[in-house]
Amino acid sequence: QQQTETLRERIVHRLKSQQAALVAHYYVDAQLQDLALETGGCVGDSLEMARFGRDHPASTLIVAGVRFMGETAKILSPEKRVLMPDLDANCSLDLGCPPDAFAAFCDANPDRTVVVYANTSAQVKARADWVVTSSIALEIVTYLHQRGEKILWGPDRHLGHYIQQQTSADMLLWQGSCLVHNEFKGDELLELKKAHPDASVLVHPESPASVVALADIVGSTSKLIAAVTESTAGTFIVATDQGILHEMQKQAPGKTFIAAPTAGESATCKSCAFCPWMAMNGLAGVNACLEHGSGEIVLDPALGRQAHKPIQRMLDFAA
Ligand code: 13P
Ligand code: SF4
Repeated sequence: QQQTETLRERIVHRLKSQQAALVAHYYVDAQLQDLALETGGCVGDSLEMARFGRDHPASTLIVAGVRFMGETAKILSPEKRVLMPDLDANCSLDLGCPPDAFAAFCDANPDRTVVVYANTSAQVKARADWVVTSSIALEIVTYLHQRGEKILWGPDRHLGHYIQQQTSADMLLWQGSCLVHNEFKGDELLELKKAHPDASVLVHPESPASVVALADIVGSTSKLIAAVTESTAGTFIVATDQGILHEMQKQAPGKTFIAAPTAGESATCKSCAFCPWMAMNGLAGVNACLEHGSGEIVLDPALGRQAHKPIQRMLDFAA
């Protein structure tokens, strides 16, 4: 405890003296989320993190999340130093969408507008017409569909399927998935819902269709958090990474949160819905960034400029 406090205090001091801002995702360790807020940084969904990093005057951003979040911050602010507690913190969607194979998929379908999820590498983004996050994907695809555009979507097949269903857009889907959300199970969720008939079911759209079909609210991490205060329900079944419960409990301390069932459920791990890459972020890693400048995101400037265009299109649309 003593050691943790000392480390924490060191970080607070260094963030200030180095004019650095800590930008964290809702899935990272609760201590890091609190630290980000207490030091004037941000905790948010991936779109909010991108915006915050771009708009904050700090010369150094420490991005506690996964690699694509650090890369997006660097693409949006090439003049800033972007550091990550662990550069190996990846994402199964990013890993499952190699740039060369994705480029070949695009080349084979030149009549389609390429829309990629933010959970991708800078190279994949550079090949896209639009980048979207889960909080804005539905609106952007609706807009493109209304303009008569056919879409090539990547990489998350569940989010793609959900949007296709909602919009009736013509969408060709890359077949990627998130290793956390892909594990949520519809049949078991239905049983849990029966046991808690008054509970509201909150689902991130990276989950399979059988799970999304049982949701009261489908949305990004921020949208799911907003729902716990906006809804009159007292109990929520939550189908996303359980790191989100920290903010949900803070927002609605009197309410009850139940983890949605996953395939990997066991006696020791009730939900097992924890992203192993998000879990690579900790106080020691943040301190190493500040002390040694470790974990720097380095991007080829030309690649960064190319990847910037479809991200900027999303930000302009969202504005
Ligand atoms: P959000 O944009 O909802 O924060 O999602 C990012 C993510 O990686 C979800 O698994
Ligand atoms: Fe990627 Fe899934 Fe982890 Fe989000 S939870 S970072 S989509 S692997």
